[in-house]
Amino acid sequence: MKNFVLLPLLAVLLAAPAFAADPPPPAPAPAAASGSDTTGTWWGQAAWIITTPGGAKIAIDPWLDNPVAPKLDKPTALDAILLTHGHFDHVGGAAELAKKTGAKLIATLELTQLLGVPDAVGAEIGGTITVKDATIHIVEALHSSGYVADKDKGGPKYGGSPVGYVIEIPKGPVIYHAGDTDVFSGMALIAERYHPTFGMLPIGGHFTMDPTGAALAAKMLKLKTVIPMHYGTYPVLKGTPDELTAALKKQKVPAKVMEFRSGISQTLKQ
Ligand code: NI
Ligand code: MN
Repeated sequence: MKNFVLLPLLAVLLAAPAFAADPPPPAPAPAAASGSDTTGTWWGQAAWIITTPGGAKIAIDPWLDNPVAPKLDKPTALDAILLTHGHFDHVGGAAELAKKTGAKLIATLELTQLLGVPDAVGAEIGGTITVKDATIHIVEALHSSGYVADKDKGGPKYGGSPVGYVIEIPKGPVIYHAGDTDVFSGMALIAERYHPTFGMLPIGGHFTMDPTGAALAAKMLKLKTVIPMHYGTYPVLKGTPDELTAALKKQKVPAKVMEFRSGISQTLKQ
């Protein structure tokens, strides 16, 4: 019976600040507080903001001024910004956003050098970077990665390989953000190594895979949930979540579709 008294007391003692002069801490939050969830907010195209139970706030491909971006205030604090490749619809205003938010900018070595962010973290496929409780693996993608700094000063510069990211979150999901890519056989290897549960996959077609390709990708990745992205921003990005649902059914892939609307946050929980 003693434990009923001692355990809560111990919890309070452990949570107390080290300095005796500080005022007493507020009552500890219940274990199931909303902060214990992983959430995703879609900003349209391939732009996401992910928050983790450990308090990491990570933006991916933050083109926050895209035609379908929500009318939300841009983030003022971020821990990291991940870029999948050099195309404008993924880089967006990443350099400025990194400066404003203090985020660590993570991209291929070549792209970080082109962006001129002094303390950016350049890494390559196969690399792993830790941001608070998030373990981020850089994986391959099948696309291109030229970067145009200024149209008037010539064409695209070499931005390294295009990449995708796998984000492992303890007590949370494993999220795969494919970047821009077609389906490729290495997705089976990503499944074998990292076991992603949620896959953010492009479905628009033309520059990336379409819903039929994304359904095959979901199969190879053994995803539980597919989150469609990179569609509807321009007329040429024709694929739709309904077509993805139909393609999954046709290919007998058990993954379910989790649809986001631009600006809406949802919990990523399995
Ligand atoms: Ni692209
Ligand atoms: Mn793109």
